[in-house]
Amino acid sequence: MDNIITAKNICKSYKIGEDSQVVLRDVSIDFPKGSFTCIMGASGSGKSSLLYILSGLDAYDTGEVYFNGSRLPDFSKENDKELSKIRCNNFSFIFQFYNLLHALTVEENIYLPLLLAKKDVKDYTDKINRLLEAVGLTDKRNKKISTLSGGEQQRVSIIRALVAETEVIFADEPTGNLDYDNSNKVIDLLVELSKKYDKTVILATHDHEVAKRGDKILTLKNGILI
Ligand SMILES: Nc1ncnc2c1ncn2[C@@H]1O[C@H](COP(=O)(O)OP(=O)(O)O)[C@@H](O)[C@H]1O
Ligand SMILES: [Mg+2]
Repeated sequence: MDNIITAKNICKSYKIGEDSQVVLRDVSIDFPKGSFTCIMGASGSGKSSLLYILSGLDAYDTGEVYFNGSRLPDFSKENDKELSKIRCNNFSFIFQFYNLLHALTVEENIYLPLLLAKKDVKDYTDKINRLLEAVGLTDKRNKKISTLSGGEQQRVSIIRALVAETEVIFADEPTGNLDYDNSNKVIDLLVELSKKYDKTVILATHDHEVAKRGDKILTLKNGILI
């Protein structure tokens, strides 16, 4: 199987004044196309840092990240435009606190990445209708995000990630703010729909029950990925 993302020998540290904290030590990993990989680890183990590096959202000290066989440009001011374009066209994000725009409606939030990628939203109406139906949110379509529960908001961000024609979905603690039932519901949807739409999912969680749902579980400990 082809690898869509590959990281080679990634080292990452944060400098705080004189001190430096090493977060990732020589992390190498392949993500096959269409796979669902869970990255586990305690809080502070570096899961978010790794996700940000893999998705071109943060810098690292040494190593290389490849997307579809091409080196992802380093995170820097000069590469900002190029990296934004790669992210916009290829990566979607689901975050713990949903990162939806509260003043906008469900539908408007789903449209946003399409508009940013200069796509015609009319071409996506059927797909959005099907996905809203699948997650039980058809009647909330024109409601403001601020009126939705946490579980409903996370289902909207799953749709947002699935509608955009990006191959990779990065999910950082997507169930971290949800109760048990909603957490199960959200993860069920993510597993089912990512397979159906053939997405590659890279999910960080500290929750073993959630991680078990992936094809593969990797654990970060002391900066090393096992
Ligand atoms: N911007 C930053 N500056 C300094 N230290 C940071 C920064 N971001 C994260 N860290 C530290 O790096 C470690 C790993 O953080 P993080 O990647 O967020 O872990 P996780 O997502 O597993 O909780 C933590 O000790 C955290 O405090
Ligand atoms: Mg984190």
